[in-house]
Amino acid sequence: MDFKQIISHCKEYGFVYQSSEIYDGLSAVYDYGPNGVNLKNNLKQYWWRSMVQMHDNIVGLDSAIFMHPKIWKASGHVDAFNDPLVDNKDSKKRYRADQLIEGYTDKIEAKIKKDVEKARKKFDDFDEKMFRETNGRIVERQKKIDDVLGRMNSMLAAEDMEGLKNLIEELEIACPESGSRNWTDVRQFNLMFNTQLGNIAGEDGKLYLRPETAQGIFVNFLNVSKTSRQKVPFGIAQIGKAFRNEIVARQFIFRMREFEQMEMQFFVRPGTEMEWYEAWREKRMKWHEAIGSPAEKLRFHNHENLAHYANAASDIEFEFPFGFKELEGIHSRTDFDLGAHQELSGKKLQYFDPELDKNYVPYVVETSIGADRMFLAQVSHCLREEEVPDADGKATNRTVMKFHPAIAPIKCAVLPLLKNNESLVKASKDICDKLRLAVDIQYDEKDAIGRRYRRQDAIGTPFCVTVDHQSLEDNTVTLRDRDSLEQTRISIDEINSQVLAKTSMEDLLLSTK
Ligand code: GAP
Repeated sequence: MDFKQIISHCKEYGFVYQSSEIYDGLSAVYDYGPNGVNLKNNLKQYWWRSMVQMHDNIVGLDSAIFMHPKIWKASGHVDAFNDPLVDNKDSKKRYRADQLIEGYTDKIEAKIKKDVEKARKKFDDFDEKMFRETNGRIVERQKKIDDVLGRMNSMLAAEDMEGLKNLIEELEIACPESGSRNWTDVRQFNLMFNTQLGNIAGEDGKLYLRPETAQGIFVNFLNVSKTSRQKVPFGIAQIGKAFRNEIVARQFIFRMREFEQMEMQFFVRPGTEMEWYEAWREKRMKWHEAIGSPAEKLRFHNHENLAHYANAASDIEFEFPFGFKELEGIHSRTDFDLGAHQELSGKKLQYFDPELDKNYVPYVVETSIGADRMFLAQVSHCLREEEVPDADGKATNRTVMKFHPAIAPIKCAVLPLLKNNESLVKASKDICDKLRLAVDIQYDEKDAIGRRYRRQDAIGTPFCVTVDHQSLEDNTVTLRDRDSLEQTRISIDEINSQVLAKTSMEDLLLSTK
C-alpha cells in the first residue's frame, strides 16, 4: 500500500487523527483513536514486558517531564541539541539543510531503483547485488550519493554551517515551493521547547519539555540503584513523552513534535561496554523480528560520525513506505551523562563494585525506540490488500491488517448471525460479558456477516466468534481465523481459553529471550 493509503486507513478506522483537526490541525502533532490507542498500548506492553518482566536486572521508572533546567545544560542539550536550518528567501519556507541534501540523494537513489527494476524484468536469473556493483551508470550514481552524504556528515560533525550552504549551492538544490535557489545562510536552531515556572520570572524560571526520557533515568541512577539493590550490570527502563521542536516535520507520525520514547539505559562496568553494546544490538533485532517485521525490512546502520559522548552507535533501520529510516538507536554512551551530572550537580554518581573493591562511574549502553515510529512500522508492514475467496468461493479483495495477534487492538469480535433474533443476541452478549474479562473485544451486529468480517479484517482482529442457530442447540460457535480464514466449531466454554492462548504475549516474549 502506498503511504497516502496507509494514512487514510489510519484515520478511517480510528487509529490516528490529526491533532486539533476541527481547527485545521496542528502540524506534526497527532492523536490516537480507539484502535490506535489499543495498538500503541500493546506495543508499549510488548517492549516493557520484554525489558522489565523478562530481565531480573532491568527495573522500571516513570520520571517527570519537567526537570531542573541544569539537567539540559549538563546533558549538552542547551548548547548542542540543534538542527541546521536554512530559509528560502522567496517562499519564506524553512528547511533542515541536511534534509534538503538528503532529498537530493534520495532522487538519485530513486533513479538507481528504477534501473534495477527495469533490469529485473529483463533477466530471469537477475542478481541485484552484482548488477549494482557492475553497471557503470549505477556505480557512478552510487559514488555521487556516497560522496555527497560523506561530505555532509563531516560538515554536520564539524558544525560547518558555511560548508552546508556551499554544498546546497553546489548541488543546485531548489526550494520545492518556489523553485528558486535563493537561500539564506545555514544557522543552528535549538530543538527544545521551553516554558516558564509560575513563580520565577526570566531565565531562572525557564523550564524545558524533555527532548528525551533518558536524562530522567540518569539523574535517578543513585535512587534506583540504592532502592532496587541492583548490581552493575543492570538497566533502568522508561516509557514516556518527549518533545522536539522539529522544523521540518513530515511523514505523518514518523517525525512528530510530541512523541513517546521507550528507552533503556544499561549500566555496565567500564571496559565491558562493547560486549554489552553488541549483545543489545542482537537482542533488539530479535525483538523486532519476533513481532513479525521481516528480516529484509530491517537493517543496522552504523554511525560513522559519533556524537562526542559515544564510543559506538548504530540505528536499527526499518523500510518504511518512504525508504529505510531510523526506527531505534543503540548507543554506547560511555560515562558521559553520569559524569556530566556528577560534575554540574556536585553529587557523586558512582557505584561501588564489590568484586573490584572500588568506586566508578558506570558506562551506559542505551536502547532507544520511538513508540510512534514502531506503530508506523507495524501499520505500514501489516496493512495489505489481498485476494481471498468469498462465501461462494469466488475471488474477492479484502483490506487486512496482519498484526501479530498479541498486539492487535481487538483480539476477538463477537457476531450474532442475525441482529433481530433475541436468542442469538442474548447468547452473543453473554459470551461478550465473559470474554471481555480476558481480552479486548468488539460486539458487532450490523450488516451481513461477510461485511462484518471485512470490518474486523480492516482493523486486524485475529479472531471472530459467530453465534448461529446451531449455537442455541449445541452450545457451540464458529471461531474464524483472520489469516487462514478457517472456521472451526468450538464449544462456547472453550472460547476464553482458546482466544487467550492464541493471542497471548507469552510466545512472543519467549522468542525475544
Ligand atoms: N536518548 C537517545 C535519543 O533520544 P534519538 O535517536 O534522538 O536518541 C531515539 O531518538 C528514538 O526516538 C528514534 O530512534 C526514534 O524512534 C524516536 N524519535 C526521535 N525523534 C522523533 C520524532 N520527532 N518523532 C517521533 N519519534 C522520534
